[in-house]
Amino acid sequence: MTSPLASSISLPNGSVLPNRLCKSAMTEGLADKFDLPTAELIQLYKTWALGGTGLHITGNIMVDRRYLERAGNVVLEDDKNIELFRSWSKQGTAGGNHLWVQLNHPGRQCPRMVSKTPLCPSDVQLTILGNFSRPRPMDQSDIEEVIARFITSARLVKEAGFTGVQIHCAHGYLLSQFLSPKINQRQDQWGGTLENRARIIRRIIVGVRKVVGTDFPIGVKLNSADFQKGGFSLEDCITVAKWLGEDSVDLLEISGGTYEQLSLIGVEPTDVRESTRKREAYFIEYAERIKQSAKIPVMITGGFRSRVVMERAIESGEVDVIGLARPLCTDPDCSAKLINQTIQSIDSHEDKLVLGQGFWGNNSPSSLIKAINSFGQVGFYYWQIIRLSRGLAPETQLGTFKAFLRHMTNDFKLNIKRKFG
Ligand SMILES: Cc1cc2nc3c(=O)[nH]c(=O)nc-3n(C[C@H](O)[C@H](O)[C@H](O)COP(=O)(O)O)c2cc1C
Repeated sequence: MTSPLASSISLPNGSVLPNRLCKSAMTEGLADKFDLPTAELIQLYKTWALGGTGLHITGNIMVDRRYLERAGNVVLEDDKNIELFRSWSKQGTAGGNHLWVQLNHPGRQCPRMVSKTPLCPSDVQLTILGNFSRPRPMDQSDIEEVIARFITSARLVKEAGFTGVQIHCAHGYLLSQFLSPKINQRQDQWGGTLENRARIIRRIIVGVRKVVGTDFPIGVKLNSADFQKGGFSLEDCITVAKWLGEDSVDLLEISGGTYEQLSLIGVEPTDVRESTRKREAYFIEYAERIKQSAKIPVMITGGFRSRVVMERAIESGEVDVIGLARPLCTDPDCSAKLINQTIQSIDSHEDKLVLGQGFWGNNSPSSLIKAINSFGQVGFYYWQIIRLSRGLAPETQLGTFKAFLRHMTNDFKLNIKRKFG
């Protein structure tokens, strides 16, 4: 029997995805010192394009070079180097797959090494190991500028030959900061009610649709919840999903968490029910209500590892597209193997990456250990991305502490290179 993962799907705009598997966005850190795509980045996407995944979403590309999620981000704010982006989109679609660009603005989640005055809807600082400066609350003209930047970048994405665009409204970055009543404490038309908090996103979607036309797919990545008290809730998500459907979004990707609550990669989601935390595909339980409300195709990302769980999710209609991220770092061809039914599950190694597992007992480890764990785990996948970009096989025996050190060193070098050449 053919796998349900092999079936194509038509999006509301008319685009057809060749199968039900999507590579979710993963920040690559492979831009040059001018924030432009490199040969390594293009090689990485060529490798992925030949691995059988129907839809690929790039790591977050920034709409403003003054504010990055990390050094090594690509920035697309004008057409000066559009040819480089054209070769990326060409090589990255070599498998007949879709390649969409994820556009993002970090807001307050912009490291101190990049900006000492990051933007935020309100003056609410992110305090993780002193890595983020106090943000400047945005005024009306800042907000209008950000909207215009997303629209311009989306137009350039289409001009560069990518086959779609995704607006990043999840994981605690700027647009998700606007949605969160904990971070957005504004009293004007951009804060307060959910309608006001979602206004910036809806303005961006309407503006992007105008410049890309009706046949170009627009996606949105949204948190099911921030998993923080007083943050963006599941009820909020269900309402925003409805609005996004009305605003002509073609594919809604559901994820969750922020830097403070790393549920996006299944780390410490303290407000998530125990049963959910233990289960594969940890956001799937929200899919049905979100899908009913949005009335557009929904993709769920986070924790999918076994073929049977993915196939059941598609067959039951619970989910339309399965998002995979870390598995594509350790096995870039895993989608083809899942679709051909030659593997039962993917081992993306995250279970082996928790330092001191079982050692701490009931005592919570210090925040330093937690940080080493989080950065070490993410660093492990950054390293696999670097390997793939050099045409090398993944190095899955890399330990968490070594991955942590390697990531910190690489990040420091990227910042220095960007600042001083
Ligand atoms: C190394 C790494 C980089 C990531 N970068 C991004 C990003 O740029 N944009 C984004 O929306 N999510 C990003 N994520 C989150 C993933 O897209 C995905 O939501 C998460 O890893 C859960 O999916 P998985 O369990 O299949 O890995 C990143 C995750 C990892 C591990």
